[in-house]
Amino acid sequence: MKERVFSGIQPTGEMHIGNYFGAVVNYVRLQEQHDCIYSIVDYHAITVEHDPKFLPAKVLSMAADLLACGIDPKRAILFVQSHVPEHTELAWIFNCLTSFGDLGRMTQFKDKSEQQEFVSAGLFDYPVLQAADILLYRASKVPVGEDQLQHLELARRIARRFNGRFGEFFPEVEPILSEAPRLMSPADPGQKMSKSLGDKHYIGVMEPEASIREKIKTAVTDVGPRGEQMSPGVANLFLILKLSADSKLYAELEQAYQAGTLRYVRLKEAVAESLLGMLRPLQARRRELEKDLGSVRLVLEDGASRAREIAQQNMKEIRRLMGVGPESLKA
Ligand code: TRP
Repeated sequence: MKERVFSGIQPTGEMHIGNYFGAVVNYVRLQEQHDCIYSIVDYHAITVEHDPKFLPAKVLSMAADLLACGIDPKRAILFVQSHVPEHTELAWIFNCLTSFGDLGRMTQFKDKSEQQEFVSAGLFDYPVLQAADILLYRASKVPVGEDQLQHLELARRIARRFNGRFGEFFPEVEPILSEAPRLMSPADPGQKMSKSLGDKHYIGVMEPEASIREKIKTAVTDVGPRGEQMSPGVANLFLILKLSADSKLYAELEQAYQAGTLRYVRLKEAVAESLLGMLRPLQARRRELEKDLGSVRLVLEDGASRAREIAQQNMKEIRRLMGVGPESLKA
């Protein structure tokens, strides 16, 4: 049997190249040999304040972005988390198998809660829902960025506790990290690329060319005199180059840097050209999908019904092992 892969992505409205190189490239590659399930996690999105007027459009837009990037609904299941209610049902069960102390150690919670005026219990519980997402399908491989490793470790602990107390049911969850370590914000390379920091801090996969060029042109390089080590801003540009250019160009510019002859204008032009060269075909596919959002809705509907079938079957067994649900009262 093929190994099952699961991953979730937040409906931020706009996918950035950090999401793309950090996770989505792997989503696409894994479809070839695995049984893949990808979810747009709207229940995670509502753990911080959100506007219900805009959420559905963001979900649909993320689905179209994923399809444009190469997610193939014939090979993978693509669906919206809230369309399969078993996610939250399993999350409750897992809540009862998660220690309060473990959740309190989650660094993403500590970071995110500092940015919120209102810290919801949902935000605290976020990693438990994430564990339920993965384990509901008994998935063992999870393509994620490295910032999610702590959450996956928690999912492993939850699965072990369940298996130990109620019977072996869940597999051992393992991350699949991309070759791309995390991309940093072009405007502040000390911080991870992120939409929530503001427009200057990310490069959107579907962003217009002129605006991508501008963000690269104004990207922070060296602050102060050049030191022994490559500054984070320059390293970030080299990383984007490595991910999008041919290796010859990368090697050439890297050598020039080492020799001290590289002008950053040249580096930035190369980064912009190679990145745009890579993004253009994705953007073209995305424009086609924009004209036919009905077909994107159909993909999500079909995905939800396929996901539900697996979820319902596994949930039945999980309820039985836990001694809950109507079946448990049958004589
Ligand atoms: N927390 C993940 C992120 O922010 C998103 C996510 C939700 C996820 N559920 C998941 C990732 C399950 C992997 C598996 O990137």
